[in-house]
Amino acid sequence: MNIGWKHAIASVVAVPIVGLFVGWTGLIGIGASGGHWAVTDWFLHWVMRNSVETAALSMEAPPLDDPALLPLAAGHYETACAVCHGSPAQPRSDAVLAMLPPPPDLQAVVPSWTDEQLFQIVQHGVRYTGMPAWPTQVRPDEAWAMAAFLRKLPDMDAAKYYDVSGLHQPPMEGEVSPMPITCESCHGERKLNSGSLIPSLAGQSEAYLLESLRAYAGGRRASGVMGVAVGTLPQEALPDLARYYAGQSRPERPVQSIDAALIERGRELAERGRPQDKIPACLSCHEKPGANPVYPKLSGQAQPYLERQLTLFKDGVRGGTRYHHLMTEAAKYLEEDDIAAASAYFATKAK
Ligand code: HEC
Ligand code: HEC
Ligand code: HEC
Repeated sequence: MNIGWKHAIASVVAVPIVGLFVGWTGLIGIGASGGHWAVTDWFLHWVMRNSVETAALSMEAPPLDDPALLPLAAGHYETACAVCHGSPAQPRSDAVLAMLPPPPDLQAVVPSWTDEQLFQIVQHGVRYTGMPAWPTQVRPDEAWAMAAFLRKLPDMDAAKYYDVSGLHQPPMEGEVSPMPITCESCHGERKLNSGSLIPSLAGQSEAYLLESLRAYAGGRRASGVMGVAVGTLPQEALPDLARYYAGQSRPERPVQSIDAALIERGRELAERGRPQDKIPACLSCHEKPGANPVYPKLSGQAQPYLERQLTLFKDGVRGGTRYHHLMTEAAKYLEEDDIAAASAYFATKAK
């Protein structure tokens, strides 16, 4: 009995010492050139799949069939994912195929994952593989949009991918790489409609645009999509972009039929607020002649975009310019139907 215990304790002490010794000798190969043994490969992927499956058990995907989710995710995919995973417009390069593990062709593997599992991978990344986590963890809606896009990816041909991502077609036969994503790929007025989740920038206050761009670049407004889009630009480019968009005019666009009673409720909220619930009148700041130029214009902005932003403010995760705390306070006590009503009102309000 006594001897048995001694053996057990000796092994518990010896195993880590032997492990440290083998590590110290330098005999464990860490080179990627030889690949993994098939069994290691199988084991690592098995662990990854189990981990993702378990984490996704407690989740339920929001509805993902809204086509407005696709453009923002597709444009981001081209900038942030295609370099490793390839896309319908371009296969993976030899350089990424030499990674260990190589980033898989997502058109082939996506059908083996559920929406919740795709979200889990995209939001949190995969440790030790090069697969990065989403740049911000405070708002899950962007990774859900990516899951919606990935779901559509297996059936997407190059033409459809160019169209939905806003990537420019290569201008000439034989041109190697297509032009990258620009601001216009996502914000071009031609691509926006009354269901968009991407904001219209045309005619927005220049001061607001500039402060917003600086907020994204500095991480004070959380968005993986916009963080990546402005992340590589020099600071000096931002004023020109703000001036350019402020000088455009927002086109009249047909508005989906919105319930007139909802718009009327929104108008009351905008004009009078609801003092008993600590909700201020929106129009005491917005669209008011002579008000602080950093307060954004809301009229003619798409309803789904406005709703999304109000929800982010209400959840306390929106961030923004140095005045964003005013709006966080204004949105704190809004109920879901207030958000729908105020958004319906501003989306249909004449400019
Ligand atoms: C630096 C390269 C790199 C980038 C950039 C990258 N990934 Fe990955 N990704 C990987 C690698 C490597 C794996 C394989 C992980 C594994 O097998 O455990 C992977 C795995 C995945 C998977 C799981 C597929 C499977 O069956 O293993 C999905 C889904 C995915 N990536 C989506 C994305 C999306 C969406 C983006 C952009 C937001 C992205 N990846 C950006 C390298 C990358
Ligand atoms: C991949 C698509 C995509 C690209 C590319 C992109 N944007 Fe955006 N942009 C978005 C989305 C989505 C939002 C909303 C983000 C949020 O929820 O904060 C946004 C928000 C903004 C806002 C905030 C507007 C408001 O009303 O608050 C500004 C300003 C902006 N983008 C400017 C730009 C500029 C300038 C570029 C080019 C350097 C650019 N964007 C590139 C998708 C994109
Ligand atoms: C005290 C002033 C104030 C009041 C009152 C106010 N807002 Fe705001 N609002 C702001 C400021 C400032 C911002 C800009 C936040 C930022 O990005 O820094 C803003 C931003 C917004 C945005 C985001 C716009 C965009 O392009 O992303 C929406 C939507 C909005 N407000 C709706 C409302 C609604 C609806 C009400 C009424 C319930 C309201 N606001 C009341 C000051 C106010």
